[in-house]
Amino acid sequence: MTQVSGLYLHVPFCKHLCNYCDFYKQKLTAEKTQFEDFHQFLISSWDRHEFLMREQKMDWAPLTSVYLGGGTPSLWGALGAEFFRDFYLSKLQLDQAEFTMEIDPGTWTPEMIEAWKKIGLNRISIGTQTLDGNFLKVMDRIHSLEETHSLLRYCSENNWNFSLDFLLGIPYSQEKNRDIIHELTELLSYSPTHISLYILNARSKYPLVESLPDDEYIREEFLKVSEFLRSRGFHHYEVSNFALPGFESRHNLKYWRGEAVAAFGPTGTGFFPQGKKALRYNWKVMSPDFQPEDLGENELLLEFVYLSLRTSEGWKPTHLTRGLEQVFQSWEAKNYGQFTAGKMVLNATGFVMLDSLMDDLFREGLA
Ligand SMILES: C[S@@+](CC[C@H](N)C(=O)[O-])C[C@H]1O[C@@H](n2cnc3c(N)ncnc32)[C@H](O)[C@@H]1O
Ligand code: SF4
Repeated sequence: MTQVSGLYLHVPFCKHLCNYCDFYKQKLTAEKTQFEDFHQFLISSWDRHEFLMREQKMDWAPLTSVYLGGGTPSLWGALGAEFFRDFYLSKLQLDQAEFTMEIDPGTWTPEMIEAWKKIGLNRISIGTQTLDGNFLKVMDRIHSLEETHSLLRYCSENNWNFSLDFLLGIPYSQEKNRDIIHELTELLSYSPTHISLYILNARSKYPLVESLPDDEYIREEFLKVSEFLRSRGFHHYEVSNFALPGFESRHNLKYWRGEAVAAFGPTGTGFFPQGKKALRYNWKVMSPDFQPEDLGENELLLEFVYLSLRTSEGWKPTHLTRGLEQVFQSWEAKNYGQFTAGKMVLNATGFVMLDSLMDDLFREGLA
């Protein structure tokens, strides 16, 4: 039996659908019926999932990480805390779990946070995006800058362990000279322990696609932020994530290390490793059933290499061929990272080039 100690729950509701967002979500228009349907979906999913676990020889262990992502989990409110307690916590135990909720600055109350805190919530992830009011509007966010400050103040004054989402590559940032270091300096004054740095991923139908900065500008922004946050004591521990020592996200680390994570909620993705193989499953949107994806040895190895190189843990090949060694030496010579004792660890410059670096590995016959 393989043990599962990680739980992800996708809460698919938003007050407003931001025009750039990639995630599966529904506009919350009729709270009562939408939440009732959601609860029914989760209840029906449980038995289906238990069957999968038996089939895959997986066993629940006390949970060491719980992550409520979305959508906007904060909209689930105190009702959600009640459901989570009565349904999941009657079946699963928490073992000093890192228990995170994503919160949109426009959809929270102290009472809602307190209700979740009572059942174990101990980490908050804030959808900050930017601390410049003009860019907030450009990003189609409907909360105000004052609401962002108010949540930051609340987290800071109540000693929450909290993370911030910060966006790069925002439309007009090149023309308007967006001052990201000023924004980050102000953000750090609230004492977050973790920062997720995302580069805006825009589809061709994105209305402001013409006003996006160019790749070189975004690359420079990324390197500037990495240098700044490292100078302020943050560890750049994964391409898009920075943490003060000891505050790395346990939930994320499980995904990157290929450890078991169970998932629920529409589009939630779970992962069950099985020795040299693995199963990934994706919950469907309309029915409490999932799409399974079997991963074979080669696919897993590729994922393992890619995910390892995304993190500061790096990759140490079991068989270091002469060809691989030459690739790593060339990366080190170009200052993309450090190659020591058979292990390659990329730095910020290497992280931004990761996709093209993977091509170097394919040429060496990795896949
Ligand atoms: C589920 S949302 C966070 C919670 C909440 N819904 C909110 O927006 O505040 C997760 C994060 O994904 C990021 N995100 C969404 N769409 C993105 C895109 N197209 N490119 C890059 N990041 C994106 C945003 O930074 C957002 O904070
Ligand atoms: S509130 Fe968050 S999840 Fe909802 S649309 Fe906006 S970015 Fe996406």
